[in-house]
Amino acid sequence: MKTLYKGMDVVSALQFSRSDVELLIQVAEDLRRAVERGERLDIARGRVMFTAFFEPSTRTRLSFQFAMVKLGGSVVDLGPEEVSSMAKGETPEDTLRTVDSYGPDLVVVRHREPGFAKKAAEICKAPVINAGDGYNEHPTQALLDVYTIWRVFGRVDGVKVGMMGDLRYGRTISSLSYTLSNFRDVEIYFISPKELSPREEVLKVLDQRRVKYELYEKPDDVMEKLDVLYVTRLQKERMKPEDYERLKGSYIITYDYLKKFSRIPIILHPLPRVWELTTDVDVLPQAMYFEQAKNGLYTRMALIKLILGL
Ligand code: CP
Repeated sequence: MKTLYKGMDVVSALQFSRSDVELLIQVAEDLRRAVERGERLDIARGRVMFTAFFEPSTRTRLSFQFAMVKLGGSVVDLGPEEVSSMAKGETPEDTLRTVDSYGPDLVVVRHREPGFAKKAAEICKAPVINAGDGYNEHPTQALLDVYTIWRVFGRVDGVKVGMMGDLRYGRTISSLSYTLSNFRDVEIYFISPKELSPREEVLKVLDQRRVKYELYEKPDDVMEKLDVLYVTRLQKERMKPEDYERLKGSYIITYDYLKKFSRIPIILHPLPRVWELTTDVDVLPQAMYFEQAKNGLYTRMALIKLILGL
């Protein structure tokens, strides 16, 4: 069943069906080939995307902006808080209401408040894409994660994915779990200190969808079972400083650690990384996180194309 349609708001990865993800992968592949052939695409000419990031971002903000420009469209960015009237105390809600009245074709929004993307979708006439709402979700990250898995293995069915790190406050974990749950025989191994284990609402969805998952505190016991190890950083900005200091360094993936295993899975990370994935891992052929970030460009080009009905 297809649920991805022209003009839709994308607030949660729960909105995507298997056929949506497969369509998106196919469109992303087509666009990748066109870009790699050096084609100048012009299908979004005259369309305007407004990007409003009320929280910092490099990959999501810039890959969305590059994606729109590479499709031939234009981008208007809110810019940092100090150059907008938010510096005078205007709310994000009033900011969005105002800019939406200027007629963007698409609004991409990130905010620290869980549920903010849904609120933005209610405010804006233009379709809204959630580029991350607090600890809640990051649906387009999940799309590029699954696209990366598909590019490596040629399938998503049956993959064994270890998700490691801050599984409680990391929004990529919920969206990736929901997206993977569309596929057959997927196994998820959550690896984290107990107090950073996944939120109940995420496990509930996996239970309802009969997805096999297990919880671990250390990766040693499962490493050689995994096809993918998806490492995430501790979400410092969503924790009390004392909790961050206590948990800092409680899990860390290094080259020497990985070399202990007879089988090393592909290593993904939504980035940015801090201390949890050391740079000496980058030399391994399994280190795919920069390729993963690049896949964000094609995934977002595909999503823009489908939502604008181009
Ligand atoms: N993965 C991700 O969301 O990165 P940014 O915070 O840089 O956008």
